[in-house]
Amino acid sequence: MTRFRAAVFDLDGVLADSAVAHFAAWKRIADDLSIPFDAEANEALKGVDRMGSLRHILALGNVTLPEAEMVAIATRKNGYYLDAVAAMTPADLLPGAAALVARARALGMKTAIASASRNAPTLLARLGIASDFDFIADAGAVAASKPAPDIFLACTEALGVAPGDAIGFEDSAAGIEAILAAGMIAVGIGVASTLARAHIVFPTTAEADLDAVIARF
Ligand code: BG6
Ligand code: MG
Repeated sequence: MTRFRAAVFDLDGVLADSAVAHFAAWKRIADDLSIPFDAEANEALKGVDRMGSLRHILALGNVTLPEAEMVAIATRKNGYYLDAVAAMTPADLLPGAAALVARARALGMKTAIASASRNAPTLLARLGIASDFDFIADAGAVAASKPAPDIFLACTEALGVAPGDAIGFEDSAAGIEAILAAGMIAVGIGVASTLARAHIVFPTTAEADLDAVIARF
């Protein structure tokens, strides 16, 4: 058993192999706009909401566009992304994702999803794991996006758990900041140098060891 009462998971890049689909969709947009954009530049977009991501890409190219055109581009990006999601199945869960969530539940922890994506419910349905969570935060309903703590606090509040009794899992630097600002233990999934502020980092979801985190904190 554990003193921790909840595990709150980011979705894209932590449980789902969907961060690559977001990147591929933005890459098409950047190429259309003749703005140089690669996987390294994409790191800064992880965890960032749709319009914030577009603003970041436009800034990389020193491009300014009228708001209506920006909305049209963001809608086009979302269409590319949804085409990819429509083809996703439970096989697009990241290795170890189902086991990690199951371990939290076996330890008696509540589980929630804190994704910046407004497509999270659709993706969870494609992956077949929606029923594994006690709460799925509505990205459209939170006032401030990551790195603000709002979406993680919405989860702990809905679960009736103190943030200090919760562990958050994130693959983005913005998400790690959000977890820390919420007052939770921050587990990074990815490159340690990118996620340096996390309490602990595992290279992949498959290597994320919930029992080790619990034992250490
Ligand atoms: C986050 C992704 O989970 O969701 C970002 O890391 C993405 O890349 C953001 O921009 C918003 O997603 P959506 O599906 O609402 O455009
Ligand atoms: Mg993510």
